[in-house]
Amino acid sequence: VFFKNLIFFAILVFVLMFLFYIIYVIYIKNKKMSETTKKIMPSATLAINTKAKNLKNSGVDVINFAAGEPDFDTPEHIKRAAIEKINSGCTKYTQTRGIPELIEAIRNKFKKDNKIDYKDSEIIVSSGAKMVLYEAIFAITNPGDEILIPDPYWVSYPSIVMLASGVPKFVKTKNFKLVPEEIEKNITKKTKALIINSPNNPTGAVIDKKDLMEIADIAIKNDLIVISDEIYEKIIYDKQHESIASFPEMKERTITINGFSKSYAMTGWRLGYAAAKEEIIKEMLKIQEHSVSCIPYFVQYAGVVALNESQKCVSDMRDEFRKRRDYVLKRSSELGMPCCKPEGAFYAFMDHSEYNKDSMKFSEFLLDTARVAIIPGIAFGSLGESHIRMSYANSMKNLEKGFLNIEKAIKTIK
Ligand SMILES: Cc1ncc(COP(=O)(O)O)c(C=O)c1O
Repeated sequence: VFFKNLIFFAILVFVLMFLFYIIYVIYIKNKKMSETTKKIMPSATLAINTKAKNLKNSGVDVINFAAGEPDFDTPEHIKRAAIEKINSGCTKYTQTRGIPELIEAIRNKFKKDNKIDYKDSEIIVSSGAKMVLYEAIFAITNPGDEILIPDPYWVSYPSIVMLASGVPKFVKTKNFKLVPEEIEKNITKKTKALIINSPNNPTGAVIDKKDLMEIADIAIKNDLIVISDEIYEKIIYDKQHESIASFPEMKERTITINGFSKSYAMTGWRLGYAAAKEEIIKEMLKIQEHSVSCIPYFVQYAGVVALNESQKCVSDMRDEFRKRRDYVLKRSSELGMPCCKPEGAFYAFMDHSEYNKDSMKFSEFLLDTARVAIIPGIAFGSLGESHIRMSYANSMKNLEKGFLNIEKAIKTIK
């Protein structure tokens, strides 16, 4: 009887401890975490990129088509300018908005390239286009405000909106083109803004001027703010880039986002900028004052040189991307993975439904079998399913090798 009671007592203690642990995990430990950040998913593009890098570090020959950054080095004259500024002691805090030389260079760039006249007070420089997007979205969003995001979308938009206590609402595209009727269908009393991104990540689509004008009309009619992410402005192949803020009555309701990461192969420098009416920029400045403070002087000075000196480095990179785009288009169609012709950026969004409809499984299969890292389309929204995003910011040699590997791998499926 004594042993029976002892075993019973031990089981009882074990069960109680287990229950206490469950209660601790669910109610106490998790409660310590923010309800807002719990809703946010880690970036899927960075996750695959990291997995590919880890495989590579462990000696596996992985070809990386996942990275969203040019494979070119930052042009020499830009690097040199930053080094000179470091050597001459420009290593202290700067103005929160950005150094006057850079603000002036950005103002001139908007005037020359985009036909928009901004004042210095309507411009802000921050830590990459991502940070200016944060500041822009936080500056305009009240809890419950709806922000329209065309699907497929760049992975960070919905997370930033949710972090700002807004509600992302996804707008369907047709053949990856933004259709004005679909925008109107999603507008409610709570709609605050619409994000547009042309050239687009992940599809490479560019919004036609005619469609952009219709979007502008919708924004004016419904009193919406437009956040226009133009980070791929300079990587455009067959069309002229159009900035929606240059259309009549649009400057005051548009926040134009841009940066140096893609055009000048400066992803690691973390330099981006935005332009909008002064009231919005003032709010963005407050966020900046209490977060990043300012961007390093030498980084900003590199931006001045990038904008003010010859743009040949930009056109050289674009010409190389165009060659690769044409090659990727040809090979993807030969392999039965068609893709809408990318008109800009450096991504091909390929339809792999002939082989497998699950983009997560298909990209895992490609990583394991073909040793190529590619982002599953589902990471970019529900309309991205059955697609993979291949970044052709990689050498022609690697593209050729990668496609040969993919060809061999998919032969094992058929
Ligand atoms: C559409 C889009 N917007 C913004 C960014 C962020 O760029 P940055 O490196 O300047 O923060 C990216 C980067 O991949 C992007 O693809």
